[in-house]
Amino acid sequence: MIGEIVVRKRLGASGITRRAMLAGGLATLVAARALRAAETDAPLKDLARDRGILYGSATSAREIATDADFAALIVRECAAIVPESDMKWGEMTVGDRQFDFTPGDRDVAFAAAHRLAVRGHNLIWYRNTPDWFLALSDRQSAEDAMVQHITEMCRRYEGGVFCWDVVNEAINPADGRPDGLRKAVFLEKLGPNYLDLAYHTARAAAPDAILVLNDYDQIDDNRGGDARRAATLALLERMKKAGTPVDAVGIEAHLDPGGAPFSAAKLRQFLKAVAAMGLDIHITELDATDENLPASIAQRDQMLADAYRQFLDVALDEAAVKVVMTWGLSDRYSWVNSDQISPGFRRKDDLPSRPLPFDRALQRKPIWYALAQSFQHAPVRTPTKAPPAVAAENAAK
Ligand code: XIL
Repeated sequence: MIGEIVVRKRLGASGITRRAMLAGGLATLVAARALRAAETDAPLKDLARDRGILYGSATSAREIATDADFAALIVRECAAIVPESDMKWGEMTVGDRQFDFTPGDRDVAFAAAHRLAVRGHNLIWYRNTPDWFLALSDRQSAEDAMVQHITEMCRRYEGGVFCWDVVNEAINPADGRPDGLRKAVFLEKLGPNYLDLAYHTARAAAPDAILVLNDYDQIDDNRGGDARRAATLALLERMKKAGTPVDAVGIEAHLDPGGAPFSAAKLRQFLKAVAAMGLDIHITELDATDENLPASIAQRDQMLADAYRQFLDVALDEAAVKVVMTWGLSDRYSWVNSDQISPGFRRKDDLPSRPLPFDRALQRKPIWYALAQSFQHAPVRTPTKAPPAVAAENAAK
């Protein structure tokens, strides 16, 4: 109710036309009714779990250590966390072949203390690779270093991490290769079979972990979405035929309402094709940029929530989708408001973006309700191969 009054006030104050105001008012009324329908004290993790879905968020050791309110919110809402950058190879590197595992260890310890599952992100990513690795000039030492890194991470976090994004963002048809693979460091140093080597190495070192191929822009109608989907399916076919152990596909899902048109039909078809290969699907980095949306917070929040809802309604319809992670929980911490995202996704008016379920004051936003409603409407599915902490949690209910 309060939300409704605030929304109306803002619309009234903005001086927009009567027709637009009526339309806005109607949308607001519908939204307010929907909010009431979803009004519940249940955290997102419970609403998701009731449908067999594991819900969680990205976070970091720094956020957890320095912000007790935010850490408590993570524990309340999430059944899983994913270290946003703490486990990235380049990020962990402190010198020539020297690593600092402390932030990743802290994430895993926090998760264990609160019985949260941990998604491992990621073992190799062309954009976060140590300089000393980039400088290696012969193939054998690059191969040895990659194998050593994957083995060390998998062993260190065995039991603590239930799945790994083994290779992150391996596909980029725009690079012009017939197989659609990205022309970047690992391909250049090791050839296209670096993927097979990476997954075999991960399987050998962490036999119980779910091994994921994670990528972006598989949901778009534009930006070469068709080419990306085709290349992903072709790569998966090739890997499966070769006996390469890949268990799931990760869909980042950085939504861009008003920017990249989303194709429900194409996404549905893609998810079905992945599921038909016997693979699970994880939504790994869900958030939404708002660089093309109006400044009004009420309007913007509703449009962002609608984008989440439209996407999730299609995604969750597919029973192979077992995991949903948002790329952060509160706008207090989001890469969308950092210089880490391409400038094209930042707002031109310099207002802070509002990509996540909670605002900077840790209050629920319409996005939270969109997630809640999507979970409540999702068909029930068999949960992911249960990570031990979550299995214990469920058994206790
Ligand atoms: C981003 C983080 O959110 C930033 O904080 C970091 O500095 C750069 O990386 N795709 C991925 C994620 O797989 O690892 C990226 O995370 C966002 C895009």
